[in-house]
Amino acid sequence: MLILGIETSCDETAAAVVKDGREVVANVVYTQIPLHQPYGGVVPEIASRAHVEKISEVVGEALRTAGGRVDAVAVTYGPGLSPALIVGLNAAKGLAKSLKVPLIPVNHIEGHLHTPFLFDCGETPAVAGPEMLVPALGLAISGGHTCLVDMPEYGRYEIIGQTLDDAAGEAFDKASKLLGLGYPGGPKVDRIAKAYFQSLGGKPPCAANLVAFPKGRPRDGVTALAGLPAELCVSFSGLKTALLRYVQQRPELLDPPADAPQLEVTDTLAVTTEMARTVASYQEAIVQAVADRVRAALARRDYRALVVGGGVSLNSRLRAVLTEVAREAGVEILLARAKYCGDNGAMIAALAWYRRNLEAEAFSIDVAPSLEVGDVG
Ligand code: KG4
Ligand code: ZN
Repeated sequence: MLILGIETSCDETAAAVVKDGREVVANVVYTQIPLHQPYGGVVPEIASRAHVEKISEVVGEALRTAGGRVDAVAVTYGPGLSPALIVGLNAAKGLAKSLKVPLIPVNHIEGHLHTPFLFDCGETPAVAGPEMLVPALGLAISGGHTCLVDMPEYGRYEIIGQTLDDAAGEAFDKASKLLGLGYPGGPKVDRIAKAYFQSLGGKPPCAANLVAFPKGRPRDGVTALAGLPAELCVSFSGLKTALLRYVQQRPELLDPPADAPQLEVTDTLAVTTEMARTVASYQEAIVQAVADRVRAALARRDYRALVVGGGVSLNSRLRAVLTEVAREAGVEILLARAKYCGDNGAMIAALAWYRRNLEAEAFSIDVAPSLEVGDVG
């Protein structure tokens, strides 16, 4: 069964065709990042206009690559930016009606948790199907979300921990903006931190080489936990404030003297060693906070797998640390390929195959900008 998946929840206009829930036949992603870069973040009106301009071309290309015929149309209906979601949902409704095929609405975050199971057309899958790897612990970590999800069986989701404020990607992006490194911050922070650790001889980061930033552990009993255990939740607002204070106390960080030691990150990017140390320390605080919560969650239940998805799961340090955490806990870790970590239509089409019997009244569905993992309808 071939399903077309459409994704427009944020700043990627994406469409893909996936066979039987895992095999990616076509995958087209148009990223709007350059349009939002001057503003240091995603501007909803610009996103929605760009989706309108690009959606036909992106969907058309995915359909053509797949041979023009699909058995269903799946679409992200939440969570995300309302004006952006509307573009994808309307396009999907129109297309499903004209092709006379079912419409399957999909939750974006649940889609991210499906990405490690995708494989490319003609390949042999490297891992078993999701139904074979439950109970699993899911970590959805992106620019909009950071949550730990208990998946007792495939298709059942319960949030057991989450961020109380900023998502991890947001924390990366805000720090990058503050440090004058540009948008999006995650990839740049990752590259700078990697170069910094390499400059230390590739040894594992240790306290002596890092600024001690807070690790985001919320206090037990705070109301924002809403009944979730503090050991499975994170809060990045204190970390952000700590970085701001650190920078304010060191004006030379943003305005370094000409003779400040430099670190060459790439051919086109060099930063001062002090900037690199700050960036690497900030990343380490986020990575260790997340790893700590994942470790605690893995200890609470006999899981078979740790499934990780979302843009921040591209972070090289996070991947290495989580791999070690999973190894220590004796569970399999499933990480998506780089091209499926960010937003894409393949994850939507793939998950839809597993949900294809659930579609009811799909054509009357509206966008759900605040949809939670595990919500239905
Ligand atoms: O999943 P995604 O494409 O969109 C959302 O659903 O939010 O995630 C985008 C986020 C951005 O905040 C971006 O800075 C972050 O993922 N990101 C990274 C890396 N690559 C992208 N964060 C850390 N390290 C990276 N290598
Ligand atoms: Zn996403």
